[in-house]
Amino acid sequence: MMKEQITPEFLFLHRRELIQKGFLLGMASVFPKWAFGATSFPAKKNEKYGLPDKDLVLTKEDVATSYNNFYEFSLEKGEVKTKVEKWNFNSKDWKIEISGLVEKKKSYSVEELCELAGGIEERIYRFRCVEAWSMVVPWTGFPLARLIEKLKPKSSAKFVKFQSFSDQKIGSNMSELPQYPWPYTEGLTLAEAMNPLTLIATGMYGKTLPKQNGAPLRLVTPWKYGFKSIKSIVKIEFTDVQPKTLWSSLAPAEYGFYANVNPQVDHPRWSQATERILDSSFFPKRKPTLMFNGYEKEVADLYKGLDLAKNY
Ligand code: MTE
Repeated sequence: MMKEQITPEFLFLHRRELIQKGFLLGMASVFPKWAFGATSFPAKKNEKYGLPDKDLVLTKEDVATSYNNFYEFSLEKGEVKTKVEKWNFNSKDWKIEISGLVEKKKSYSVEELCELAGGIEERIYRFRCVEAWSMVVPWTGFPLARLIEKLKPKSSAKFVKFQSFSDQKIGSNMSELPQYPWPYTEGLTLAEAMNPLTLIATGMYGKTLPKQNGAPLRLVTPWKYGFKSIKSIVKIEFTDVQPKTLWSSLAPAEYGFYANVNPQVDHPRWSQATERILDSSFFPKRKPTLMFNGYEKEVADLYKGLDLAKNY
């Protein structure tokens, strides 16, 4: 029998496909893992976190990327996008220090953290600012819990503290606000950080995170007010004491540590009962705010025993 004749028909018919697959495998060994694998964009959609309500629509990308709170650059939401243009940003050089009560202390690149966490995915979340406006955003990122499991916190760790960059050469507005306890810091209990909803975002709208939205990585906790979602993180520290945060140091009566979205607890200067949906024709006026921003089922257990009427 001639050699060609003993090739099984299946292999013969699919030889072109198999050659292509072999080629791709070969390419994967030449290029870094993130260029191919579960850390490239656009990431796979996690269908469990699709549109959270049939009446909601995604906020338009140009609204979410041009109406920003990033006080290191400006107090004017519409100005942040132009102010960050001068920031000579390179995500490949960005390092995130993991420190405190944790075994795997080290400075990691963004790619290393994404790989450690097992890759990135897309999730659509509601986003509610303490100023009583809201959006619906498709984030890309990884659940913080998957990273924390790999970093192995010590049993004494009870909180996670996050810190933004503190370089005044980058944050051109920081010196204009000397009363602010820079750098921007935020914190979660370890249990909150481990909740499956808690995301470290590296992108939005299927692309890497724009500078004005907190490149190269930010926190996203959709049941809390937006100020908890700290941008451009440079340090994640595991501690046994509740961390001081920028807002709870600056105005403790207005911005608490938990900052869970709660329509029953007004901000001292305005009501939290309703919200203005940015960019939505469905709710031209205001819509009622939901307890825990609609994520009560997922997070209410974290706050058993806390008086929700005071839990701000
Ligand atoms: N992170 C840093 N480092 N600096 C900030 O000023 N503002 C917070 C939060 N994270 C802020 C920050 C506030 S008040 C909100 S509402 C959200 O970012 C806004 O996120 P967005 O601009 O992507 O909508």
